[in-house]
Amino acid sequence: MRPSQMLASVGFLVGLLGMTAAAAAEEPIDFNRDIRPILSDNCFACHGPNMKDREAELRLDVEQDAFAQRDELPAITPGDLTKSAVWLRITSDDEDERMPPKKCGERLSRAYILRL
Ligand code: HEC
Repeated sequence: MRPSQMLASVGFLVGLLGMTAAAAAEEPIDFNRDIRPILSDNCFACHGPNMKDREAELRLDVEQDAFAQRDELPAITPGDLTKSAVWLRITSDDEDERMPPKKCGERLSRAYILRL
């Protein structure tokens, strides 16, 4: 895994979990500040602003869409990982489910799952 990706992964997971001492002690997690940049690096190629390349009609660049109810689960349910499709997808052991897809290369770091 490239260092930049590793950092992004950790930031992403910490962001979703909101569990670093700093984050907990200071301010609440903010989608645009804390989560969006990491989704941007790893997910926007297929779930971003570009309609032509968008997969699964899912966009993660806009908070309203990322939090919206979908057929199964919202992509992100703030504060509840078990109801966040994004979380389930990035941590899935099933290669057909896991995001980003295998063809994109590295999966995100699992280091922070233990914090669940
Ligand atoms: C190379 C393109 C690509 C990238 C990059 C990508 N995805 Fe996906 N994503 C897809 C495709 C194709 C589907 C639909 C097929 C499926 O459900 O597996 C999908 C489906 C999903 C779904 C299910 C949507 C639903 O409600 O049906 C979620 C959640 C998701 N992706 C999250 C992510 C996250 C989070 C990232 C970044 C960590 C990411 N994806 C990166 C292509 C991509």
